[in-house]
Amino acid sequence: MAAYLQAAVATRLNVIVSGGTGSGKTTTLNALSSFIDNTERILTIEDTAELQLQQVHVGRMESRPANVEGKGAVTQRDCLRNALRMRPDRIIVGETRGEEVIDMLQAMNTGHDGSMTTIHANSARDGVSRLENMIAMSGIEMPIKAMRSQIASAVNLIVQASRLQDGSRRMVSITEITGMEGDVISMQEIFRYERLGVEPNGKIIGRFNATGIRSAYSDRFRQWGYDLPASIYEPIV
Ligand SMILES: Nc1ncnc2c1ncn2[C@@H]1O[C@H](COP(=O)(O)OP(=O)(O)O)[C@@H](O)[C@H]1O
Ligand SMILES: [Mg+2]
Repeated sequence: MAAYLQAAVATRLNVIVSGGTGSGKTTTLNALSSFIDNTERILTIEDTAELQLQQVHVGRMESRPANVEGKGAVTQRDCLRNALRMRPDRIIVGETRGEEVIDMLQAMNTGHDGSMTTIHANSARDGVSRLENMIAMSGIEMPIKAMRSQIASAVNLIVQASRLQDGSRRMVSITEITGMEGDVISMQEIFRYERLGVEPNGKIIGRFNATGIRSAYSDRFRQWGYDLPASIYEPIV
């Protein structure tokens, strides 16, 4: 999974980390960002500064609420629009929760490959619904099919983080978005966390496993010099 994620980030797939509150989304985003090359120019946009990028060329933007007179607000959306003009290689939005979703998807669709963000959702499929909801809430009138094809072409990968009952945090699913089938966004899960049981003390026993489905981006990985062996996609039985 680590080799796969390294290839995914290094070859500039657009990644969304999805999960509940405290599931480890920001931590995962930080970890993924370590696979970005040092020569790339990265812009981060956040409501509260949590990201810790190790690269040399990092510009940081933080939104801020309005003052007591209701003035001076700088939204994440404002930041994103400015970010696009600054022509970074990648844009990383700490958490997408509202109207900025549309600019984020546009950024992902227009040359800022390798952009990343997190969203609050319980599964990859739920994550896509969340994106649809956010677009609808932003007041943009768009037919559902157009909305979905925008999402399908922008987002390559959803990494689902979860806080399990025993308090441990796991990447429970790594799912690729592969396109559209009719009105539906098609996805394929490549890796997942399998629960095998529970210890008497409540600790969950489990393992990470491949689903047996080969990445739709295998050729891309190879072209970029990440020649992942086919065996990483074979499930342990
Ligand atoms: N894989 C992990 N193992 C142990 N602790 C983790 C792991 N991922 C995150 N944490 C811890 O869990 C807490 C919540 O993580 P965070 O990334 O802020 O979650 P989120 O962004 O989803 O709200 C933090 O204290 C973080 O250090
Ligand atoms: Mg967070």
